[in-house]
Order: sequence, then structure tokens, then C-alpha cells
Amino acid sequence: MENGGRAVAFKVRQRNTPAFPGVTANAQAMTHSFSIDQLDPYLVPPKDHRHRLFHGRGKTLPGWEGLTLDRFPPVLMATLFDDYDAATLDALEQRLRAVLPELDCDTLVFQHRHRRPALTRVITGAVPEPHWAHEGGLRYRLDFERGQNLGFFADMAPGRSWLRERAAGKKVLNLFSFTCAFSLAALAGGAESVVNIDLSAPALALGRENQVANGFADARVHYLPHNIFRSWKKLHSLGRYDLIVVDPPSAQRGSFMVEKDYPKVLERLSKLLAPEAELLVCLNAPWLGRDWIEARVAERLPGAVLEAVLPGAPGFDEAAEPALKVLHYRYRRPD
Ligand SMILES: C[S@@+](CC[C@H](N)C(=O)[O-])C[C@H]1O[C@@H](n2cnc3c(N)ncnc32)[C@H](O)[C@@H]1O
Repeated sequence: MENGGRAVAFKVRQRNTPAFPGVTANAQAMTHSFSIDQLDPYLVPPKDHRHRLFHGRGKTLPGWEGLTLDRFPPVLMATLFDDYDAATLDALEQRLRAVLPELDCDTLVFQHRHRRPALTRVITGAVPEPHWAHEGGLRYRLDFERGQNLGFFADMAPGRSWLRERAAGKKVLNLFSFTCAFSLAALAGGAESVVNIDLSAPALALGRENQVANGFADARVHYLPHNIFRSWKKLHSLGRYDLIVVDPPSAQRGSFMVEKDYPKVLERLSKLLAPEAELLVCLNAPWLGRDWIEARVAERLPGAVLEAVLPGAPGFDEAAEPALKVLHYRYRRPD
């Protein structure tokens, strides 16, 4: 293959030949080859406000399933879920370095998510401190040191705008709030109050920082650093909620296992919801279809009616059913 000397075709690693000592290579057997040039259509400045430039996880480009590219100017971030070989990594690095100016970036970060723990490397430039993701006129603090996640989930953009559109004057409960991005969207939409609950105190601390940084210092916001399964009483004591967001992990050892625990959360909601309310039910488990969560809601939360399935965020193209399902339910307390 030739293209100004830039094109390199790769074969997906067949055997255990790790690019890094001590790392077990992904031994997935794949027969096709793939090339850096295939990424070119994604390496252009987006016409909308998307953060994700390329979503290999969506399996739309064979060979690149283990790569995602996110743009938080001036940072371009490549996340590697597979242990690509040294030649592939080298070619990827060269190509991404070359397109940085076009993308209005000067810093390239690689995160090797296939490693345990994930390894984040600044390839060139420097990550501004602090650094922010911008969306809808709000800013969300990014933390490149925190490990796997930057503290902001770009794929939840449609969920955040959904909440913002309907939050005016509402009491909002943000279950599994992480860094409280939903809370910020609710405040921007004029929510009367927001309750955030998450096991992670550092994530909530980032949430509070976001609240202040966006000019909502005086808003009525609670941050509860607790296990949800031990906090139902506390959540009840704060009242009934007009809007509830449920966005748990799929599996987090010792704290949440989707098949076992999601039904338990759903059956508690009737005691937390106002007689007429709305819910955003999120499921990010690639092995479970939308029918799974719809069936659990039907079983465990009488009075909830599916209103809409939110679209995916721009850039998160998927070949099949998306891993992330975001469902809007309307709730009316049964007589
Ligand atoms: C998918 S993240 C939530 C993302 C968040 N909604 C957002 O938009 O940024 C899941 C969160 O659930 C929290 N978590 C997991 N098990 C929990 C539990 N039993 N009680 C409270 N929080 C829990 C984790 O700490 C993690 O922050």
C-alpha cells in the first residue's frame, strides 16, 4: 500500500508478543489486515461539538476495535483497549502527531487501557492543569491522573441535554452520580435541587468543584458519599423526586453487579418518585440488550411507561445495538 509513504498495513497480533514487558497480548485470532489510512476520515475537525472522533469499540472498522480517539482541545487522546504491536503503535503515534495542528491540539496522550492498571502516557505536549471538557456552555473538569476514566463520559451527552431540558423547578436525584455531570446539566436547566450519591468521595469532590466552577456555588446540591444500597432511608428523608437518573456501572466488584443489583434499585424507586415523575434509566452492559432492562423495569416498577430511547452521542457510531442504552420513562404512581 502506498500513500505518500504514510500507509502501513497491519495484521492484528496473532500470538502473545507483548508491546510492553509483563503485558499479555490480546491473542484474539483475526485474519484481516488494517491500516492507519482508514482512520483519516475521522482525523478532521468535527463540525459539531462531539468529543469522540473515532469509536472503534463500536466495531465499525475491522482491526481498530481496540481504539478510541477523543478530542478535548488542546488534548487529543488515544485510548487503546487492545495490545497493538509496536509497529502499529508507532505508526498511529506518527499519524496522530501529524494531525494535531489541524485538530486544534498540541498535546497527544495515549492511554493503554488493556494494562492493569491502565497506563496513561503524554506522548507530546503537556496537559493543561486544570483541563476541562466543554459541552453546552458548561465545563467539566478532566482528570488525566485518575486512572481509566477522565471524570467525564462523553457518550452521555444526550442524557445530559435530556435532563437539562426538563429540569426547571424540579427535584432531581442522581443515582451513581460519579463526578456529578448530570447534576451540572440539571442546575443549568434550573433544577430546584439535586441529590448526588456515589461511593466515590473523590468523584463527588470533583462534582462539587464543577458546581462552583460553573457559577452554581449557591445552588441546593447534596453530595452523599455512600453505598446506595445502604442509603435508602437517607434518600427518602430528602423527599420525593420529580426526576431520577439511574446510571450504574455494569460490574464493580463488591458494590454493583448489573444482573443482580439493577432490579433491586428499580424496585426501590417507587418510594423515591413523586406521584408523577420522569426517569432516565441507563444500562451500559454490552452483553445485555435493551429488552433486558425494559423487562426489569416492567417487573419492578409498575407505573413506569417507556417514553423514548435516547440516540447515541455523535461520534459513538455502532455497528450493532449500542452498548449504552439510555431510556426515558414517564412514571405515574399506580392507584
Ligand atoms: C457509570 S458511573 C456513573 C457515571 C455518571 N452517571 C456520569 O454521568 O458521569 C458508575 C458510578 O457508580 C458508582 N457506584 C458503583 N456501585 C455503587 C454503589 N453500590 N453505591 C453508590 N455508588 C456506586 C461508582 O463509584 C461510579 O462512580
